[in-house]
Amino acid sequence: MPNHLTVILAAGKGTRMNSATPKVLHPIAGRSMLGHVVATAQQSGADKIAVIIGPDMEAARAEIARLAPAAQVFVQDQQLGTAHAVLAAKAAIAGHAGDLVVLFADTPLLKSETIGRLTALLGNGTEAAVLGFHAADPTGYGRILTDPSGRVSAVREHKDASAEERLITFCCSGVMAFRAAKAMAILEAIGNDNAQREYYLTDAVAVTRKLGFDVGAIACPEEEVLGINARDQLAAAEAIYQRRARNAVMRNGATLVSPETVWLSHDTAIGRDVTIEPNVFFGLGCVVEDGVTIHANCHFEGAHIRQGARVGPFARLRKGADLGPGVRIGNFVEVKNVTLEAGAKANHLAYLGDGRVGGGANIGAGTIFCNYDGFFKHRTEVGPGAFVGSNTSLVAPVTVGADAFIGSGSVITKDVPAGALALERNAQETRDGWATKFRVMMAKRKAARKA
Ligand code: UD1
Ligand code: CA
Repeated sequence: MPNHLTVILAAGKGTRMNSATPKVLHPIAGRSMLGHVVATAQQSGADKIAVIIGPDMEAARAEIARLAPAAQVFVQDQQLGTAHAVLAAKAAIAGHAGDLVVLFADTPLLKSETIGRLTALLGNGTEAAVLGFHAADPTGYGRILTDPSGRVSAVREHKDASAEERLITFCCSGVMAFRAAKAMAILEAIGNDNAQREYYLTDAVAVTRKLGFDVGAIACPEEEVLGINARDQLAAAEAIYQRRARNAVMRNGATLVSPETVWLSHDTAIGRDVTIEPNVFFGLGCVVEDGVTIHANCHFEGAHIRQGARVGPFARLRKGADLGPGVRIGNFVEVKNVTLEAGAKANHLAYLGDGRVGGGANIGAGTIFCNYDGFFKHRTEVGPGAFVGSNTSLVAPVTVGADAFIGSGSVITKDVPAGALALERNAQETRDGWATKFRVMMAKRKAARKA
């Protein structure tokens, strides 16, 4: 494939989002729309990326620097149309030899294979290519026109189209590809003599034909070119993305008992023979290895769940939760920044924050790692094979040695040596017959009051 430059248009204000955040920074599956489009450009083999942003979009500039540090950013001061926006990257295009692809940052579901099919049309006298789709309702879209010989001749924007042209359902996605050698001449020949007084990139089709070259067109599924203008469309795109992601997870060999109730991030990695019960949320940065079972109603972020571990129901794993092979995390257990080594268990009602639990250790119900003193966070280390009795507070920094026992209900503030028993609670007092006598006395009092 020849050297390939992708220009991503992101300068639109996106007023219909009704948001303080630029439209293209709104997320789908935990990644901004702009991030999805940059990733698609990279997957399609773009050697260079240029992004066109509007003024006051410094947050978008920062996102680009994070995702694609080599990308060039250009500011389009006034939004005079999509062709005008592409020309903001004149400095990148003019010096480029190869293909030029134009993508929209608010069209995040486009697949890289589709870009490959589009650029494959270029060459042998075809200097431009347009990505089309068959619209269920073409209202508002540009229509792809063909001449009597069947060759693509123009794109007519909806507002400029005649009643007859509006009957056409083969629509323009706005995504286009060019051979860079001719692209500048084509783009600079585009005027703004139209209903909206805008410089339409889609006019490149008619201009290319006028210059004596051909224009190619292909169709892709309509959902791939869904443009996001408002939050209902954002939700629709999220639903499509989630469906695709779940299908990929299932093809990889995981069972989703109720797929539509599992929410995945763009980077969620799930292995083979994993079973996921209903209502599970995967935030960013989760890895689930082979043979893991996740019971219903769990919330995960930044967690690594290793081979054969079992989690939930109702478990919360936060950043840095690292569950070793065969670990068991049960209901109402929260884990943050803790490594649990192979076979460790915390089966019920616990908070484990900042520390390590050795292999095979048992954390009883109601155990709390008291990791925060109001100013600093401290670590708790529980050695392998240790048994922490129910309702124990481990006040960090504290270490419990290997195979030690902690008596139930203890508040542990000092290190416990390996193999020791630590018990921190008052001795139990038992008075034989006390309850029986007490009941008799109180019953008499009650009767006396009634009389
Ligand atoms: C565009 C196409 C139309 C197609 C439709 C598909 C043109 C002229 N028309 O129309 O044929 O059917 O997409 O959704 O291209 N942008 C800038 N600067 C500008 C103008 C736009 O960066 O000056 C960006 C926007 O942020 C957006 C993209 O370009 O990401 C598309 O612009 P938009 O105004 O939404 O084009 P449409 O009218 O939808
Ligand atoms: Ca649009």
